[in-house]
Amino acid sequence: MSDERPAPGGRSRIGVLISGRGSNLGALIDAIAQGRLAATIAIVISNRQDAAGLQRAREAGIETVVLDHRQFSSRHDFDAAVARELQAHDVQLVCLAGFMRLVGPALLDAFPNAILNIHPSLLPAFPGVDAQRQALEHGAKVSGATVHLVTGELDGGPIVLQAAVAVKENDTADTLSARILEQEHRLYPAAVSLLLAGNWRIEGRRFIAPSP
Ligand code: GRF
Repeated sequence: MSDERPAPGGRSRIGVLISGRGSNLGALIDAIAQGRLAATIAIVISNRQDAAGLQRAREAGIETVVLDHRQFSSRHDFDAAVARELQAHDVQLVCLAGFMRLVGPALLDAFPNAILNIHPSLLPAFPGVDAQRQALEHGAKVSGATVHLVTGELDGGPIVLQAAVAVKENDTADTLSARILEQEHRLYPAAVSLLLAGNWRIEGRRFIAPSP
């Protein structure tokens, strides 16, 4: 994305991609409603018809679209359709929120440095699926949540914000996930706000925010 503020008075338009529950989508909706995030969710896209997050979006009066990846003959065609939908809604920043599809060049190239993801570990530890279980099984004493820019490397783009969560001796994947999720809901709106405020830059793999 361009690291410049939107026109004065204009609210940045974001698109949110989901596949399931949509609690991070809910955190973004709440942050906007409470004035903590100056943005408009222009469209929510799900690759699954049964994603519970779709209902959450509709209740908030947000337009939703289902693009079922199984209806497309290739990843490229699916990504291109998602990109077209986002562009048709004039989206400047794309937020993946539990979107369970790898993002390929057709979408990445349409939104350079303008796609964010939230991941339930302190990256680069435990990328991929079941990050909370991976942390437990590894015996990590600290895990957490990461918001990062999306690149072609799975969970490997520049890190925007992180929050640490202590792992307890008696944690299960569920109890650890629940405490990480609390941090995710705090972190994602803050990271989106930071991106939209502009004046940040990327150096190598580092995301560098302006000094407060
Ligand atoms: C979150 O744990 C997020 O970090 C991961 O997928 C989960 C999505 O949860 N990428 P929700 O759909 O936002 O509730």
